[in-house]
Amino acid sequence: MERTLILLKPDAVERQLIGTILGRFEQKGLNITALKMLQFTPELAKRHYADHLDKPFYPGLEAYIISGPVVAAILEGDEAVAVVRRMIGPTNGIEAPAGTIRGDFSLSSRRNLVHASDSLDAAEREMALFFCVDSQS
Ligand code: CMP
Repeated sequence: MERTLILLKPDAVERQLIGTILGRFEQKGLNITALKMLQFTPELAKRHYADHLDKPFYPGLEAYIISGPVVAAILEGDEAVAVVRRMIGPTNGIEAPAGTIRGDFSLSSRRNLVHASDSLDAAEREMALFFCVDSQS
């Protein structure tokens, strides 16, 4: 059993897709074990997206992620990290295949609705950042 962290980003909240997106994960059989709405600050954006700080798209990414509330959740299930990444699809909604969340609902590289941890290490770091939990709890 694995756990992973997802964020429903400001475009998902604005477009009233919270229930639709969380419902997909529930229909798949993943359990939501933690859930909250929060507002990113520039400081939290820099911590969460530390690997992207030097990328040319970072200023736009930060402006977007602080632009409105986000929903953070922990999803639990067999191979949850890989399963959730496959379900959200590739970064660019234009290229994401139909049937993935980004493929069905996004036409953008930035406004791509959902973030999901890309490895078990990232999941541990991100769960601690948003929920103060570690891998044992
Ligand atoms: P996410 O999975 O949260 O991880 C990094 C985020 O940066 C990504 O989703 C997008 O929101 C954003 N991003 C990645 N690549 C680009 C890009 N080429 N242009 C704009 N934003 C991007």
